[in-house]
Amino acid sequence: MDGPAGAGKSTIARETAQQLDYSYVDTGAMYRAVGLLAEEQGVSLDDGDRLSVLVAGLDFSFPWVDGVLHTVVNGRDVSALIRDADAGMRASTVSKVPQVRAGLTERQRALASQGGVVMEGRDIGTVVYPAAELKIFLTASARVRGERRWKQLRSQGDDATSLAEVIEEIERRDHQDSTRAIAPLKPAADSVVLDTSKMDIPRVKRAILRLALARQEGVGPEPLGNTD
Ligand code: DC
Repeated sequence: MDGPAGAGKSTIARETAQQLDYSYVDTGAMYRAVGLLAEEQGVSLDDGDRLSVLVAGLDFSFPWVDGVLHTVVNGRDVSALIRDADAGMRASTVSKVPQVRAGLTERQRALASQGGVVMEGRDIGTVVYPAAELKIFLTASARVRGERRWKQLRSQGDDATSLAEVIEEIERRDHQDSTRAIAPLKPAADSVVLDTSKMDIPRVKRAILRLALARQEGVGPEPLGNTD
């Protein structure tokens, strides 16, 4: 499952995995963790050689704690440190570095090859696992995605960030993710594209679950385009 920030991927991917009794892999958390550790260790976010060493030394695990998926790196739980807008931007910046992509792609392929996985990111259908049985590209307009993020921030007590700032940040990250040289954000040619600006989350989930169950029975592939 690929798509831009704020399209609803995390909720939908996680809940779809639970319904199918599959495991769930959030590849964005890996890029976020690399960005965090680089920052902490004073490694420049574009220094391929040092980032390559950093990535090689990382041991990831993703335990569920009280129904919430945590990101643990080298035994340290970094979940609370990788979710803010700065962490998203840092992740997007390190994700342009070829050595970082190569190191994380290799680990993601190993996880995907076990099967029974819902994996979310930006390049899963195009690069990490083109053999996936079902590829979903979730998208929504920048305004709708911005409004969702902004409401979430307000519900968490952030009254200082304006809607315009949130939309601007989303557009900057979209631009950086879609224009990078390696594995840019784009739908795989054989993906099913769902625009969540026009569909609520339960409807999107139902559509994806139907597609997944049909694939399990050997039906498909669906043509590129919207479906409901
Ligand atoms: O999905 P997210 O917001 O947690 O991802 C953070 C950043 O990581 C995103 O802006 C781009 C990068 N990323 C990537 O390049 N490839 C992936 N498979 C997942 C995330």
